[in-house]
Amino acid sequence: LALPILDEELAARLKARLVEVEEALTGHIRSETEYVTTAARHLMHAGGKRFRPLLVLLAAETGDQADSDDVITAACVVELTHLASLYHDDVMDEADLRRGADSANARWDNHVAILTGDFLFSKSSELTADLGASAVRIQARTFTRLVEGQILETVPAPEGTDPIEHHLRVVAGKTGSLIATSALYGARFGGAGQEIEDALAAYGELVGTAFQLSDDILDIASESEESGKTPGTDLREGVPTLPVLLAQASSDPADARLKELLGLDLSDDALHAEALDLLRKHPAMDQARAFVVERAGEAKALLGALPQGPVRSALEAFADVVATRTA
Ligand code: FPP
Ligand code: MG
Ligand code: MG
Repeated sequence: LALPILDEELAARLKARLVEVEEALTGHIRSETEYVTTAARHLMHAGGKRFRPLLVLLAAETGDQADSDDVITAACVVELTHLASLYHDDVMDEADLRRGADSANARWDNHVAILTGDFLFSKSSELTADLGASAVRIQARTFTRLVEGQILETVPAPEGTDPIEHHLRVVAGKTGSLIATSALYGARFGGAGQEIEDALAAYGELVGTAFQLSDDILDIASESEESGKTPGTDLREGVPTLPVLLAQASSDPADARLKELLGLDLSDDALHAEALDLLRKHPAMDQARAFVVERAGEAKALLGALPQGPVRSALEAFADVVATRTA
């Protein structure tokens, strides 16, 4: 995730702090059992944008204790929680590719993937304890929201309710929550104070929502060389995403075939390819992109609580990059 930070001093500091996070992460996922270490390092070292740790570090720059060790610990907590959730997610989504590598369930099997996710989540919990009781409470609440979002994704919107609203609740839970926590942890352990903590938590929630919605657009639009994942996985698994929900809401007769396909089992390769092709060309893609840009704009508007300067500019750029990302 290339973040255009104009301030060279800030960019250099963040880069150096990210190296510290990386070293700490490698240490934290070491197990006495070599097999566990190998399985846990598999996705960690396959790649990843370190988007959440970067947000922790950037949010911490709003305070006067950005250099504290707790900031690095908090960055590790959110990345380990995220990584844990990916091991589980790939089992649920039956995904075979992650970060350009075989998913853990494909490389080993579902048992290894689930237990490695549990291992990483335990490591993350242990680290959270070092940050004190309030962080443990935030972490527990975040985990609740992650799980609730993920469960909600498996059930359709209740009869008579708006499926797009239901979907946005799913997204806020499964992704907004942890990204909100990343920004909140950064502000808290960077010593920013209550007002900025609140603003950055709300900012993170919106940026996180935009991040997931962009991810879902990329799942349709991009090739695996860019995303490191198999295109159309959500479609194949019948996981609803914003472009699909927008296309389904269309009453244009020209959309009849796409809507018919979206109601079928798309594990069939030919049907899947046809649906993916129609969806890629559909105006719902640009509508979804516009929706994401709006969320990023709302996120940036919340930064009014912060003083003008390079940190605020970088947080604005961060929201823009999320909305327009291509990988
Ligand atoms: C990726 O979404 C998945 C998430 C954002 C959250 C998944 C949450 C859980 C599995 C519950 C929490 C579990 C633990 C151990 C913390 P996606 O499938 O839409 O994205 P993808 O395209 O990257 O697969
Ligand atoms: Mg998935
Ligand atoms: Mg999923």
